[in-house]
Amino acid sequence: MKVCVVGTGYVGLTTGVSLAFLGHEVTCIDLDQSKVDMLRAGHTPIYEPGMDELLAEAAPNLHFTTSYTEGVPGADVVFVAVQTPSSSDGSPDLRYLRAAAESVAQNLAHTFTVVVNKSTVPIGSGNWVDAILRESFAQREDRPENTEFAVASNPEFLREGNAIHDTLFPDRIVIGSDNPRSLEVLNQLYRPIINQTFTAPSFSPRPEDIGAVPLVSTDLASAELIKYAANAFLALKISYANEIGQLAGKVGADITEVARGIGLDQRIGSRFLQAGVGWGGSCFGKDTAALITTAAEYNYEMPIVRAARDVNTRQRAIAVERLQDELRILKGRKIGLLGIAFKPNTDDLRDSPSLDIANLLIARGARVRLHDPIAANRFRAEQPELAPFVSDTLDGVFEDADAVVLVTEWAQYLELDWSKFVGLMRTPILLDGRHVLDNDRMNRLGYRYLSMAG
Ligand code: UDX
Repeated sequence: MKVCVVGTGYVGLTTGVSLAFLGHEVTCIDLDQSKVDMLRAGHTPIYEPGMDELLAEAAPNLHFTTSYTEGVPGADVVFVAVQTPSSSDGSPDLRYLRAAAESVAQNLAHTFTVVVNKSTVPIGSGNWVDAILRESFAQREDRPENTEFAVASNPEFLREGNAIHDTLFPDRIVIGSDNPRSLEVLNQLYRPIINQTFTAPSFSPRPEDIGAVPLVSTDLASAELIKYAANAFLALKISYANEIGQLAGKVGADITEVARGIGLDQRIGSRFLQAGVGWGGSCFGKDTAALITTAAEYNYEMPIVRAARDVNTRQRAIAVERLQDELRILKGRKIGLLGIAFKPNTDDLRDSPSLDIANLLIARGARVRLHDPIAANRFRAEQPELAPFVSDTLDGVFEDADAVVLVTEWAQYLELDWSKFVGLMRTPILLDGRHVLDNDRMNRLGYRYLSMAG
């Protein structure tokens, strides 16, 4: 099928490259010429394991351009995946989405096109995009004949760092539209994934237990709500683990064992119960906020979602309190933070716990040193005022440190020869912000091991 993807961020690029890999003919549009040049040269502007390889495999079916006229006319499906940054009041800034929808409408031609909104937008935005498309299309003097279109929602569930795996081998695909023909087109588009008929890439093998991928085909509003409800549930699952984790610390229980004991109940499930400094990233914070805002428009409160957010914010402060309880005075202390990205295998810094913890420590007069195997340079560029506190070496983090906090559980940190660094520290306090290190082993090596749960 002929596919067009507008926007080459995490979601747009993964969608475009994956669909091209599956055999569809894909044009990716981005207004940023430098990004397009980079992609044409076979390099991805984002850090995502396997993406360069998939890009190379999909290249014969992929075209990158800055021009809507090269991608939209004749497309069976147009995905709009432009950024929707938060405005100062917390609501998403929909300017880019509006501009993209208008440009799409200006270029629709000679076929039935499903316009799928992949940008993170408030529930109800499908109708809004539909209205913009219809208005812009109606204003065209050169309206081509036989041109029809409809809007659909196709929420994204991919995790950064696992984007290719999550796209090719998803737990489910959700499509929503009030137009039955759109649902048929999307069903067709995703057939290779639903039936798992494609040859899996060597770097992302097919899971052994995967069968046919369930397709949830529904109305527009339900599909939009599924996205928010899923992300909020995952966020509150983590916050629940963190809330229980704090109580575990107080009563002398081990949160890792408790989480395992809870998660083996199949009604609960063991994933997303990892306690620690809490969640970050581009989705959970934004989506839980958007749910609360949408509900408020209907005069409805969402106390559970609100509590999940509050607990998450509290976890970041607890990391600092744990250090203060131990060191008594934070002023002048050198604290090393291992990990800046919001999670391993990404260079994404959005809503990263590390950034909040660093700022809280700096506000209390501590001297902070941050390290990240991949995201350090991006952090320097995005947070220039904190750039002087970034260290490229682990020695720079541990040397004379009064404490070190493991904030992001990069494999490099888990596999570290921890015995080499303990001697560099002024006081060997180690706060395991993710509950991933072995308490006894760290103590044996000479660290004073602290977990988030006390
Ligand atoms: C999330 C959703 O998982 C995905 O379905 C959606 O499309 C986008 O948002 P992502 O933000 O890429 O994906 O990362 P995810 O792996 O979900 O982790 C989010 C945050 O939760 C990270 O900061 C991670 O460290 C944290 N986390 C995750 C925990 O603290 N504990 C856990 O048990 C799992």
